[in-house]
Amino acid sequence: MELGVCYYPEHWPEETWIPDAKRMKDIGLSWVRVGEFAWKRLEPSPGKFTFDWLDRAIDNLGSAGLNVMLGTPTATPPKWLIDKYDDVLQIDKNGRTRGFGSRRHYCHNSKSYNKETTRIVTIIAKRYGKHQAVQAWQTDNEYGCHDTVRCYCDNCKREFRVWLKQKYKTIDTLNEAWWNVFWSMEYASFDEVELPNLTVTEPNPSHTLDFYRFSSDSVVSYNKLQVDILREFSDKPITHNAMGLFGHYDHYKLARDLDAITWDNYPLGTLELALVSPSEVGPGATGSSALFPNELKNKYMRSGHPDLISFNHDLYYGLKDKPFWVIEQQPGQVNWAPTNPLPAPGVVRLWTHQAFAHGADVVAYFRWRAANGAQETMHAGLNLFDGSPDTATDEAKMVAEELSRQSKVEMKNSKVALLFDYENLWATSIQPHAQGWNYWELQLTYYMALRGLGLNVAVIRPRSELSRYSVVLAPALNLVDESLVNHLTQYVKQGGQLVIGPRSGFKTLTNRVHAPAPGPLTELMGVTINKVDALRTGYTEYVKQGRRKLPYTVWADLLTPTTAKVLATYESDAYKNVAAVVEQKYGEGSCLTIGMWADVEGLRVLLEPILKRAGLETIPLPEGVRVTKRENSSYLLNFNPSDVSLKVKGLPKKIAKHGVVIVKK
Ligand code: GAL
Repeated sequence: MELGVCYYPEHWPEETWIPDAKRMKDIGLSWVRVGEFAWKRLEPSPGKFTFDWLDRAIDNLGSAGLNVMLGTPTATPPKWLIDKYDDVLQIDKNGRTRGFGSRRHYCHNSKSYNKETTRIVTIIAKRYGKHQAVQAWQTDNEYGCHDTVRCYCDNCKREFRVWLKQKYKTIDTLNEAWWNVFWSMEYASFDEVELPNLTVTEPNPSHTLDFYRFSSDSVVSYNKLQVDILREFSDKPITHNAMGLFGHYDHYKLARDLDAITWDNYPLGTLELALVSPSEVGPGATGSSALFPNELKNKYMRSGHPDLISFNHDLYYGLKDKPFWVIEQQPGQVNWAPTNPLPAPGVVRLWTHQAFAHGADVVAYFRWRAANGAQETMHAGLNLFDGSPDTATDEAKMVAEELSRQSKVEMKNSKVALLFDYENLWATSIQPHAQGWNYWELQLTYYMALRGLGLNVAVIRPRSELSRYSVVLAPALNLVDESLVNHLTQYVKQGGQLVIGPRSGFKTLTNRVHAPAPGPLTELMGVTINKVDALRTGYTEYVKQGRRKLPYTVWADLLTPTTAKVLATYESDAYKNVAAVVEQKYGEGSCLTIGMWADVEGLRVLLEPILKRAGLETIPLPEGVRVTKRENSSYLLNFNPSDVSLKVKGLPKKIAKHGVVIVKK
């Protein structure tokens, strides 16, 4: 477990570089990421290279004993490149060309940009591929940031048609898969297919879903182009930095081509925006979230919410089922949320340990020194504008000392898995049906219910190997086919406890309905579903389970049991006594179906018997306190702005505000 920092030597006078590197070392950092936005300073005009400064910067870091992660500079094509070609800039959904003057303005499908990418990445890979200090690579920077996965230019239209032809082979198959008979949308050839934007009202959701898949694949191919070149000249690990709660491309697919995943962790900005990241806003997103109401945001304003952070740690661990890195860790204030509070003292340390608790190998802070101008002037670094240490430097130093005293901790396999899937996120956000629908929020509700019981949670793709988990939860498993259902059925037959959440089994993989729902899942769930209810935002209804009433919001599947046993029924006047929660034994295991969008407490009530049956020990934790188990120790973390008393066997009686305790077994 190591620490690092993101560094922009090109921003600062060269005489500061040697003292900077020395101080990085003194703090206890071992990794420095450089270069990812430096194209213009490396190639001021076409074919004129000025790599000498980067040579000196990397040599300097290497001589100080620091490892360098070198970024390819493709997130910021310089002005001369944009002016040289007419097919590099992206076109947004509204048909407007995205201009030069910030970053990520290129189209992944531009032939010219692919050619330029090949050229610059080859030059960099050749030059630094065997450099002793360069120990890792980062491709580009944050694919998709600023809503840049989906581009609506002519390059994309051309490539989308090719992609569709490969997928459907004949246009009749596509027409049928999308049900284009509706509104006379049938095409006569692939050359007629348009992009799903600028239509009068919404485009066909099947069309949009395929376009989202295509756009995601375009990112994956563009990344692979870079990875293949880097591999030719270097044997060092290749990474890319993902963002938190960002779902415009399929990260599982991207991860296959990388050696390790890194992600950028900005807990305070993320909480401010919860649960809408600027590029995630779909037709159903309102900007407010019942899971993170204002009082909660006030409470965690200076620490972020533990589960909102660690959900991403667990998701990114799950991409490759191995340790990830946090390559950008918030060290102080950020600049990009609507409001940007300062973190409380001790919180940078808390975030860093939390990342290690969830399986990070490296945590690197963004950035070394606060920027003296341009877009990110209001963003903190480890150092202030004048280069003198900011408070995060002390906290990083403290963590480095703690790590040097800590013996290696091994990740512990969790027994509970949550199935997260990008295509289900897309399908349900394309047609949200309820204004409050938010796939992330539903996933987080399940995640929070489990984390508050002290359980480690693996976040994995639905088609992952499931046999090692005792309990598997699948909220909104919307798109299903026979092969996925066979996979889940095998798991249950062999003794797995499967929990299926609302809105599952409704659609085919091409986004048409299963009639009746849940299609191929009918036997496993023991129900059919012919009706769903969508509730107005903020409206609550109840289900009755014995003498208990549990609230639900947003969504309800009206279940008609075929073979399953009813555990709870709806109280709503509109569909009183209809089944809401059902269960059935199947093979050696069981399948519990929760038809409505329950809240965190309600889920705990419903899940308790299953967790018990699976032999999992639960610990009711106070709000904001989290335990993460590793092989030989447990991390106890307190995100509350106050000390908290505990009454849990094996844990200390008290944990200080924003405190971290590592409890040895
Ligand atoms: C990230 C990005 C960095 C920087 C940072 C500011 O999204 O990768 O380059 O912009 O945010 O918080």
